[in-house]
Amino acid sequence: MTISITRRAPAALGGSGSILMRQRRDHARLDTMMNRWLAGGADEELDVLWQDIVRMVFSHAFAEETVLWPVLRRVAPHGEELTGRVEEEHQAISDLVARVEKSPDDPRRAEWIQQAFTLIRQDIRDEEDELLPHLRDAFSDRRLRRIGAAWETVRATAPTRPHPGVPRRPPGNAVRGVPLSVLDRLRDLAPVSGPVARRASLVAFIAAGGAGVIFRVVRATRRHGRD
Ligand SMILES: [Fe+2]
Ligand SMILES: [Fe+2]
Repeated sequence: MTISITRRAPAALGGSGSILMRQRRDHARLDTMMNRWLAGGADEELDVLWQDIVRMVFSHAFAEETVLWPVLRRVAPHGEELTGRVEEEHQAISDLVARVEKSPDDPRRAEWIQQAFTLIRQDIRDEEDELLPHLRDAFSDRRLRRIGAAWETVRATAPTRPHPGVPRRPPGNAVRGVPLSVLDRLRDLAPVSGPVARRASLVAFIAAGGAGVIFRVVRATRRHGRD
């Protein structure tokens, strides 16, 4: 029987740098942000908060699909079924958020955002209660910290917006997702004024570095999964 990671002591989850603690911290941060959005406020403030939530959700999920779920499929009984379920959740969140982003003036926008929050909360529960405990069972603390570092590295260069047409599994998600990550991060930078050349070189740096990092991590994850 799996034990949820939600209330376990950090030491039992491999310490602060482990993938389990990194996931739990992100989930808690997301939960706080969603509650703040639901509490209401000025339109402008809620828009900024919504964009922060979107950036966090999609970079977090991309790194899961790239680093975590391939490993989990190798070590967990029914790993295919478990990861298939969260990939469906990620797809549904992506579809819904893409709809919100495409229709900023639709009167159903707030309703769609709340539906997205319900799906995100379901995804968090499935991960903490059912998927992530398998990583605890399968790996040493040291390995959990290495997986945590790989996940964090991919997250730092992952797409930050919904892309419902991108495959949910590597290598297809990395092949299609990395160039989109560049565009997303360019859009994230848009409000910042500055010389165009400087911004372009930053984007080129992210593109080159991000692609290299993601493909290296995908390769390493495959190799380690066979240890
Ligand atoms: Fe997660
Ligand atoms: Fe997720």
